[in-house]
Amino acid sequence: MPGAGCDRPAGALTPLPARGEKGLARVFQSRHGLAMNYRHAFHAGNFADVFKHLILTRILAYLMRKEAPLRFLDTHAGIGSYSLAGKEAQRSGEWRDGVARVLQAAKPKPIAALLEPYLKVLGPLTPTGGGGRYPGSPVIAQELLRAQDRLSLCELHAEDRLALAATIGKDRRVTIVEQDGYAALRAWLPPPERRGLALIDPAFEDPKEPQRLEQALAMALTKWPSGCYALWRPIKERRADAHFLNAIAALGAPGILQLELDIGVVALTQHSPSPLSRTGLLVVNPPFTLVEEARTLLPWLAGVLASDGRGSWRADWLTPPK
Ligand SMILES: C[S@@+](CC[C@H](N)C(=O)[O-])C[C@H]1O[C@@H](n2cnc3c(N)ncnc32)[C@H](O)[C@@H]1O
Repeated sequence: MPGAGCDRPAGALTPLPARGEKGLARVFQSRHGLAMNYRHAFHAGNFADVFKHLILTRILAYLMRKEAPLRFLDTHAGIGSYSLAGKEAQRSGEWRDGVARVLQAAKPKPIAALLEPYLKVLGPLTPTGGGGRYPGSPVIAQELLRAQDRLSLCELHAEDRLALAATIGKDRRVTIVEQDGYAALRAWLPPPERRGLALIDPAFEDPKEPQRLEQALAMALTKWPSGCYALWRPIKERRADAHFLNAIAALGAPGILQLELDIGVVALTQHSPSPLSRTGLLVVNPPFTLVEEARTLLPWLAGVLASDGRGSWRADWLTPPK
């Protein structure tokens, strides 16, 4: 049962469902009749999660410099917290080459300062997985945000939505909906606070996901042009990625920040079976501090997370700022 595009040696573990691949997980039918087999539990805390969550904490830290309330919108929220002792995380082991390396690495002073909110939300987690859980984006935001802030979370997978609600617990700041994330985004915008961040972090199971992302951003920019948006993507095929980037640039929004991390060739071993080695975030209307912060953090992160020292990174403008 090989995952699409996953050329595995005989005798290796069955490939795990990775973003943009059909995986082996039990196929779940959403209320909307969509097949959903992506399970983030296999990938929680991997290099792509660390990259995305670190940037997320930097954006939230900036937005919280002002007392005024903010809104965090998470269109594809997941279950909020992931057991690293669970069978999915144990089987993939991806977190060992992600968050475990970050916890273990030496942190020069400027790096430690920028990592502070991220390390705070990791709490008691140790490089060997002691402490047990890796936080997803909803829990990261829940931990960092203040009493005056609000969180709107969307998760289409019914069981995952229940798990998310259980993880979040009673928190009057948080609303959770079970629907398509792009439809939720349309309904949420503009948020009453008129400031905040929308994280768009789909599973990339659908080959049309890049087009859906592009259409969602086009819609969002008409409803809330000044909003900050962070769009996650896997980078697998250069031409397809260039096509996607051109389409996003053509939307005409100025100052879209293009952040990328490449950890080099990933060996298809039992320990790290995901073939994904490059990931990116596009940040629309980023905090003015983010580009310099990324230029400090990403070289360090690339060094820490790269397999055989061949990591690279990028932090520049897809469209020039005004
Ligand atoms: C990559 S995971 C989210 C990870 C999470 N944002 C984090 O950083 O911790 C993507 C999630 O989107 C959910 N999902 C898939 N299609 C969806 C859709 N159309 N609308 C909302 N959620 C969806 C999946 O069930 C999965 O839990």
